[in-house]
Amino acid sequence: MTEYDSLIAAARRARENAHAPYSNFRVGAALRAKSGRIFGGCNVENATYGLTVCAERVAIFKAISEGERGFDAVAVVTDADSLTPPCGACRQLIWEFCGDVPIVMANLKGKREVLQMRDLFPKPFDSSSF
Ligand code: THU
Repeated sequence: MTEYDSLIAAARRARENAHAPYSNFRVGAALRAKSGRIFGGCNVENATYGLTVCAERVAIFKAISEGERGFDAVAVVTDADSLTPPCGACRQLIWEFCGDVPIVMANLKGKREVLQMRDLFPKPFDSSSF
């Protein structure tokens, strides 16, 4: 039992809803707000491919559109043996709304690793850049 168990469980549940008929790579993400609320998201693919939205961004947009602000952890769950870090676009969005939070990567076999956003996303462009 760790402080991330319920966040990982939420990402796992969200992954069940993945719409990934093109890649067959199902991703679940979960975002923990400082209020304690957890927002899940799954990847939502599209026949045009380019309109696909990653699980992390779906979770962020759900939370932001519900009025939530201030987050303290993000989880990403896949079935890959090599754990899945957020893509570059998602790192930019996570930095915007969450800052230097722990990113908890896990797979269905129970493997997990935690990395800080500052290590995954050094030298960010953000509101302090201009
Ligand atoms: N994907 C995510 O949802 N999150 C990630 O962190 C990596 C990639 C999705 C996008 C696409 O639906 C599938 O994984 C393959 O790239």
